[in-house]
Amino acid sequence: MLRSKCWSFVVLGVALFAASAPISRRDAVDYYDPRTLSGSLLNRSGSGGEPLNVIISGKSTPEVLTPAGFLDYARAVGMSEECLGLHHGTKQLANLGDGNGWVEEREVLREHFFLPFFGTCLETMVGGNHLRVFRQDGPKANSGALFLAVSQEMDLSSHHMIIPNGYDIGRDRFVQRAVGTKAYYDKTYETTLQNITGMLPSGNRGVNHRIAQDGVIKLLTVTMKK
Ligand SMILES: *[C@@H]1O[C@H](CO)[C@@H](O)[C@H](O)[C@H]1NC(C)=O
Ligand SMILES: *[C@@H]1O[C@H](CO)[C@@H](O)[C@H](O)[C@H]1NC(C)=O
Repeated sequence: MLRSKCWSFVVLGVALFAASAPISRRDAVDYYDPRTLSGSLLNRSGSGGEPLNVIISGKSTPEVLTPAGFLDYARAVGMSEECLGLHHGTKQLANLGDGNGWVEEREVLREHFFLPFFGTCLETMVGGNHLRVFRQDGPKANSGALFLAVSQEMDLSSHHMIIPNGYDIGRDRFVQRAVGTKAYYDKTYETTLQNITGMLPSGNRGVNHRIAQDGVIKLLTVTMKK
């Protein structure tokens, strides 16, 4: 009797350990520079791409870097899934130099204007903040970091064109709302900010719609508080 009780504690302990272990192995770095392994922070489709102007550090709490965990975080800072699954515009590709080559974005999120269910539909009609998510997790550079292309769009009637200076404006709006302490239901996040310069070339070369940007990438480190 006592013996079987002991065993159930061992089994419970192993199960708890397994549940709390990280989803996949990651190296303890913020990110790897994609350029060192022939990746790029720009230049994804034929006509140029949206610059990868925000990085969520690989040192963030692992849950935040998963699709479901990042969606909760994005909701805490006012973004959500696309309006009723509508997807306007073509998918983008990114090569993060991690050995996976050019891959499609993992998800697209839009500003929800703090109306949890139909807010993203409002964004689709009136324009707003928009972001694409790519994860650096290939075998050659497994930081787990998320590389985001953030922009500010015009409304649907203008076919989701990026507004003038829309990359820097979109990035700064997102960062402004993310930094500090933010919550979504029972989850609380603490986000810190650093600039990365010299990795993304400034200007409009290779940029979609040829809209110039300042070449600064914002590195956000997100810690979930229990
Ligand atoms: C970070 O970059 C912004 C431009 O995006 C600049 O205005 C700011 O001064 C920079 N901050 C630091 C500490 O370098
Ligand atoms: C796109 O990336 C490739 C490979 O890094 C580079 O050779 C090319 O010049 C880039 N094109 C533009 C428009 O930046």
